[in-house]
Amino acid sequence: MEDVKRGLTSSPKFLLSKYFYDEAGDKLFQQIMALDEYYLTDCEFEIMSTHRAALLEHFVSDCDLFHLVEFGAGDAYKTKALLEYFLAQKVAFEYNPIDISGSVLDQLAEDLAHSLPQLSFAPMNLEYFEAVEAISLKSTCKKVLLFLGSNIGNFTKRETDDFFGRLADILQPGDQLITGFDLKKDPAVILAAYNDSKGVTREFNMNLLRRINRELDADFEVGEFYHHPVYDPDNGAAKSYLVSRRKQQVSIGAIPTTIGFEKDEPIFMEISQKYSLEDIENFAVRTGFRITENFFDKRKYFVNSLWELN
Ligand code: AVI
Repeated sequence: MEDVKRGLTSSPKFLLSKYFYDEAGDKLFQQIMALDEYYLTDCEFEIMSTHRAALLEHFVSDCDLFHLVEFGAGDAYKTKALLEYFLAQKVAFEYNPIDISGSVLDQLAEDLAHSLPQLSFAPMNLEYFEAVEAISLKSTCKKVLLFLGSNIGNFTKRETDDFFGRLADILQPGDQLITGFDLKKDPAVILAAYNDSKGVTREFNMNLLRRINRELDADFEVGEFYHHPVYDPDNGAAKSYLVSRRKQQVSIGAIPTTIGFEKDEPIFMEISQKYSLEDIENFAVRTGFRITENFFDKRKYFVNSLWELN
């Protein structure tokens, strides 16, 4: 509630995209990932499937096992390509999916117990950094962290530096990190991914206004806002806005306050940052990691960058 109040009383107005993911938002995001225009999921799935043997070679260590720790595991759709292969190769590892949503983790645990009964896994319903620290307390074996899906793109550049810097502080030398970065490419391809023809991405954004209506007793008329995605090929920022169609007032009972909107006034909803390989190298170097290998899909739209702590 504090975040909503702060965002809507700021100038310019904003909302935080982490609040997109209530039950309806989770479903809409699943639909986005299945869209033809949203190439990111297919690219990363291709990378995980094609390069699984090379990845495994990097992961095995002298320890009895390694921990495959996944931040924001969700349904682990792409990770399963790795898990199946690692099991077939009979390597010793423990899968630690981490998610702040307990219900998502329960569903994943049920699914894994059926689909991969031989898998040793320990889900953790914790905040990312807490989970890494908890694993280090119980085991001295190597950790391989997965942060997939271009989730890093929803952070600002500064938040990204902080994130990698904090990880560098709590990991041990030899631990590894794989991050999925969406690369800069034809601006039309990127814009289409956030402006799909079926309007699912628009609904995904509108859902946050509906959520505020439901949970904070507000009266947003969602039809009085339109979705406006933009992509700037200079700095690689894909941003989405909801824009007020007219001068209007919205009351938010739970705060309580009334927010005034001018005609054409935007609410900034989300950043999905795209990167060059040079940007990625700079992040690694600045925060104390070195790049071991970059894994690409065949169109070079996306990269899973494998880093090791110095
Ligand atoms: C979760 N995240 C990486 C997605 C993205 O591409 O920024 C969220 C999303 N927003 C609109 N479409 C997908």
